[in-house]
Amino acid sequence: MDNFSSELSGFYKLSIDERQKKLQELFDLSEEELASLSGEDLDLKKYDRMIENVCGVYSLPFGIATNFRVNDKDYLVPMVIEEASVVAAASHAAKIARKKGGFTTSNTGPIMISQIQVVDLDCPASARVHILHNKDEIIELANQQDAILVKLGGGAKDVRARVIETITGTMLIVELLVDVRDAMGANAVNTMAEAVKPLIEKLSKGRVILRILSNLAELRLVQVTAVFDSEALGGEEVVRDILHAYSFAEADPYRAATHNKGIMNGIIALTQATGNDTRAVEAGAHAYASRFGKYTSLSTYEINEEGDLVGTLEIPMAIGVFGGLTNVHPVAKLSKKILGVKTATELAEVATSLGLAQNLAALRALAAEGIQKGHMSLHARNVAAAIGAEGNEVEVIAKEMVKEGKVNTESAMAILEKIRK
Ligand code: MEV
Repeated sequence: MDNFSSELSGFYKLSIDERQKKLQELFDLSEEELASLSGEDLDLKKYDRMIENVCGVYSLPFGIATNFRVNDKDYLVPMVIEEASVVAAASHAAKIARKKGGFTTSNTGPIMISQIQVVDLDCPASARVHILHNKDEIIELANQQDAILVKLGGGAKDVRARVIETITGTMLIVELLVDVRDAMGANAVNTMAEAVKPLIEKLSKGRVILRILSNLAELRLVQVTAVFDSEALGGEEVVRDILHAYSFAEADPYRAATHNKGIMNGIIALTQATGNDTRAVEAGAHAYASRFGKYTSLSTYEINEEGDLVGTLEIPMAIGVFGGLTNVHPVAKLSKKILGVKTATELAEVATSLGLAQNLAALRALAAEGIQKGHMSLHARNVAAAIGAEGNEVEVIAKEMVKEGKVNTESAMAILEKIRK
C-alpha cells in the first residue's frame, strides 16, 4: 500500500491483538499471515531444512517502528530485536525527521564483489594485466552461470585485479563485480567465482585458492540524509551537545564502536525481520567504518543555517528481497508486505534511514537526559518477570523500582514479598 500515513498515533498503547488488527486492516493481511506473527503456523520441518542438528526454534519480539518517511513515501518498519527502547527511539527520531520532510536517500546500485585469490605466480604484474586484457571472456564465463540474473539486467559487469604482498608471499586478487539485482547475491557471486577458476589459472599461470564474495560491499552503498528540527530535539544546547557526541565518535574508535552499534541496532533489526544475513551487514558496516585506516563513525552531523541538525549515513547494504530466507520464512515475507518494498535497493534505503534514526535517537538521549531513563521502565519489567512476578505484579514492582531508582533483583524480590503478604 503506497498511500497511507506511518504516523500511527497511540499505536504503542494498543494490545498485541489490537496492533495485529491494525496491521491487518492497513495491509490486508490474511489470517494465515497474522498466525505467522504469533508463531501459530510453526512447522518444525521447515526449520530442519535451514541448518543442521535442529532441535527447535528461538523466538524474538517483532515490533513496528512508526513515523518513517523515506523519499516522500511512508513506511511502517518491522524490527526483530530483543533490546528495550530501540523501536520507540527509532519511531521518535523518525517523527522528528518527518517535520523537515523525512529521509532522503541515494545508492550506488546492487554491485557485489567476488574475490578470486591467485598464488604461485612467477610474474604477478603481467598476470594482472593479462587478466584485465581478457576480462570480457571472464565476464562471459561468469554470466553463463546465471542466465536468469542476466535476463533481469544483472550479472557480472566488470573485473578488477590487484597484486598484494602478504606474509606468505605475493598474490593476485581478481575481483568480479556483479550486479545481483534484488538478491543479497552471495550464492550467485560465489558460483561465478568458482566457475571462472580454470580460466583465471590459465590466464594468470598461477594457482587459484579462495573463491568467495567480499562482505566489504563498497560498491553497494546507500547514502541517507535527514534534517532534525532543533526545537524538537530539545533546543540549541542539545543540538550542540549532539554535535560534540558525534565528534567524539569521529575521533575515538572506542566511542565509534558504540556509536556504530547504535546505528546497527536499527539496521540489524530490519535485516533480521526480512530474513537477511545480519552478519554480512555487520561485517560490511564495520569494515567500511575503517576504510580510511582508522575505525570511525559511519554517520556525520552538522548544523545548518536554521540551527537544525543535519545527519548523514553512508553504509554498505548487502540485503535482498529475493532468495535465501526472504521468500521462505513466513515472517520475513510478511515484513516485506508491510514495508511494501519492491526492490533490494528500496529495502536498503529504508534500512539505512532506520540506522540514521536510531543513531540520532541514541545521541539525543545521551546528550540530554542520559540513556538509562528510557531503558529503565522496560528493564524493570524484565527484572520483575525474571524473579517470578506474575500478572499485575510485574507492573507494580517495575513502577516501584523506577520510582525508588533501584532496579535490581534484590529490590524486586523485596517488593514482591511485600505485595504477596
Ligand atoms: C545501545 O544499544 C546503543 C547505544 O549505546 C548507542 C550509543 O551509545 O550511541 C545507546
